[in-house]
Amino acid sequence: MEPYRIKVVEPIPMTTREQRESALARVHYNLFDLRADEVTIDLLTDSGTGALSAAQLAAAMTGDESYAGSRSYHRFHEAVQELTGYPHILPVHQGRAAERILFSTLLEPGQITLSNTHFDTTRANVELNGCQAQDLPCPQAQDLDSDEPFKGNVDLARLRAALEGPDASRIALVIMTLTNNGGGGQPVSMENLAQAAALCRANDVPLILDAARFAENAWLVTQHEPAYKHHSPRQVAEEAFRLADGCLMSAKKDGIVHIGGFLALNDGALAERCELLLIATEGFPTYGGLAGRDLDMIVQGLSEVTDPAYLQSRADAAGHLAHLSRAAGISILEPPGLHALYLNAGRLLPHIRPHHYPGHALACQLYLEGGIRSVELGSLYLGAEDADGNPSITAPYELLRLAIPRRTYTQSHLNYIGDVLEKVARNADRIPGYRIIEQAPMLRHFRSKLEPVTP
Ligand code: F0G
Repeated sequence: MEPYRIKVVEPIPMTTREQRESALARVHYNLFDLRADEVTIDLLTDSGTGALSAAQLAAAMTGDESYAGSRSYHRFHEAVQELTGYPHILPVHQGRAAERILFSTLLEPGQITLSNTHFDTTRANVELNGCQAQDLPCPQAQDLDSDEPFKGNVDLARLRAALEGPDASRIALVIMTLTNNGGGGQPVSMENLAQAAALCRANDVPLILDAARFAENAWLVTQHEPAYKHHSPRQVAEEAFRLADGCLMSAKKDGIVHIGGFLALNDGALAERCELLLIATEGFPTYGGLAGRDLDMIVQGLSEVTDPAYLQSRADAAGHLAHLSRAAGISILEPPGLHALYLNAGRLLPHIRPHHYPGHALACQLYLEGGIRSVELGSLYLGAEDADGNPSITAPYELLRLAIPRRTYTQSHLNYIGDVLEKVARNADRIPGYRIIEQAPMLRHFRSKLEPVTP
């Protein structure tokens, strides 16, 4: 059962099939453009969508809104430093602001960043600085059905080859994403992280953690990495941060807040340069685009997020939803992580070709059937077509992500999702594909307009 009870509630919008059909047509089959009050269960993201605790709300009331040097900032600095060990800590309004500030300061055009998998905004911020983002996921990540516990690992052989190869001088940094969101929410083992850190150190390349889901990664390490069986998630997290030279953090995930993040670094000279950009574009370094009360809520969230009972219930929720999905006949990317379930839409909808977007087709169907909002991770997100509309890049897998907001939905909500999955799977062969009628030059999945393809 959930290790909390509910003190504040928010009604869930209930809609009819007709309302959903007309809403979806109105937004040109782009679920990002729905109004929230047209969505019954919102699994679009686990980012900034969690429920605050009573203790976080109490902490918010102690927020000090001084422009400079607030008490909130000092509490925040102390808490983040204790967790991560990094001395230089810059608050930002969310993760991608940390990416922008670090990359615009550190990267020179033409350089390369390496990662187990860059998240989409991370890649976009690398590319906006004229650089190339290369993903080096481990070979085990290619088998969606195996239950290998650490499919989020970086491929150490390819990392070594890159760091010691002909382009070595262009490699600016290595980013390890914990857990690997772009790679199915799979965790990184401490052994893999330590070896990646050793390679970076030997080649004098900084290692930065994208720590958005550091606590969920740490929990999975305690469950599946024998050497850490007797560690607490907090101990694992502290050790993980200390293997790297700094971190980018979206506190909207494992800070359990609605807004916030930070950039934390060992390198004082680099932090000083980042700070100038922070002042120009986010805010004074003691608030960085946040209110004092936000900083205090992050402090409290960071202390709650490594609670083993909380993390266990997160794993139980993902495990339950995984069970419901398999029972409905929908394969998932195995094993389920903690923050989301990735449905194998390509396998469920073999009649829809990749460039008619099986994952997106399934997303639209979950919305039409049950008012559930989710997001595609397939050829709409990762693919491309040439000027004549012929496929030029196809995603390796056609997935649909059901993200699980923190402390927000109960087991009966999950059971409702299971019922909808079952109904959708029963009529899977009748689900239509989609074609893009309008798209943006980058991050197209956010802004595309689509229409159903009639057979
Ligand atoms: N890194 C990872 C691994 C993420 O998952 C995200 C956001 C970011 C960085 C950017 O952080 O949103 O605070 O600017 N992921 C959300 C998602 C949006 O739905 O997965 P942000």
